[in-house]
Amino acid sequence: MENKAKKGNATSKNKQKIKIVGIGSYTPDKVLTNADLEKMVDTSDEWIVSRTGIKERRIASDDQATSDLGIEAGRLALKDAGLTADDIDLILVATNTTDTPFPSTACWIQKALKADHVPAFDISAGCTAFIYGMIIAESLIVSGTNKRILLLGPETLSKVTNWKNRNTCILFGDGAGAVVLEESLDDSGMLSSYWGADGNLADLLSLPGGGSRIPVTHDMVDQNLHYLHMKGNEVFKHAVKRMGEAAVESLKEAGLTTDDVDYLIPHQANIRIIDATGRRLKLPPEKVFVNIHKYGNMSVATVPVGLAELYQEGKLKKGDIIVMDAFGAGFTWAALVYRW
Ligand code: ACO
Repeated sequence: MENKAKKGNATSKNKQKIKIVGIGSYTPDKVLTNADLEKMVDTSDEWIVSRTGIKERRIASDDQATSDLGIEAGRLALKDAGLTADDIDLILVATNTTDTPFPSTACWIQKALKADHVPAFDISAGCTAFIYGMIIAESLIVSGTNKRILLLGPETLSKVTNWKNRNTCILFGDGAGAVVLEESLDDSGMLSSYWGADGNLADLLSLPGGGSRIPVTHDMVDQNLHYLHMKGNEVFKHAVKRMGEAAVESLKEAGLTTDDVDYLIPHQANIRIIDATGRRLKLPPEKVFVNIHKYGNMSVATVPVGLAELYQEGKLKKGDIIVMDAFGAGFTWAALVYRW
């Protein structure tokens, strides 16, 4: 049997099945700069900028849960689409930092939006979960199961970050993006996608405690197992390889080449990973979207917030070819090609 990771999803070449009809994003007000981090751990602005490209990040307040960020982004996406919560028939939430282990963050968001009785569930796929969500939404709309889906990517990694560990705490920030999706009736929309995962690498990036493997105990908290753990160097190597592969394969699936690409919106984990992916696609820097200097790694939220920024700044023109590309815990990876 052919290696499944080499296969794209069911999207056939150059058929626009779904399109984005509304976009919203939200980042918390609190800014945490590299200078602030210098006072918290043994690090420097120079080290952080040269190794990651990050200058500052946004941090949710103590009383802001992941759903609170998602609700803000979701409301803006619905408003942008000229719709209300009554007009959607499914809520999908892509996140790693759920409000509660259960019920799902999607159900908390459904309650707040008053989208009564609309089905709602979460998608867990590391930082790749927003693109996984687009692929799932496409299948549901194409099959006729759903007509209009609100897909959200809210994240508060600050809540699971060990703020005493300089290896990880300099990297992450909080934020949320959201899109409203429906069937495409014109030539814009999602052209193709490609997704994969490798659970053999699960230990390289994980939140080990708090689940059924290591339930919550005082001892587990004493060992810091309730925080995110990462082998940064190893993650880095796999991220560069898989993000390049996903972008190239999704373009191939769409019958396009890198020359056709107007914007690459890569997951914002490290400027060196972003640059390497841009180089692999032979894209000039102006076609590679970067906002990591402002927000750090917002995990699932980086791609939809990036899309929202390009849209809000009026940079997207009809017909533009956009590649969204991500990599994350699992490991997981995915990319999609979209004609604006
Ligand atoms: N400040 C100063 N020095 C530091 C810091 C810091 N914040 N963090 C680590 N160092 C030190 C290390 O201790 C090490 O010192 P040593 O040589 O004396 O042991 C030295 O800097 C080099 O450390 P490396 O880990 O080799 O540094 P590297 O260049 O690999 O950069 C980084 C580390 C930024 C974490 C990088 O590996 C990376 O970005 N990896 C990918 C991370 C990633 O993408 N994660 C998320 C993907 S999925 C998701 O988004 C959830």
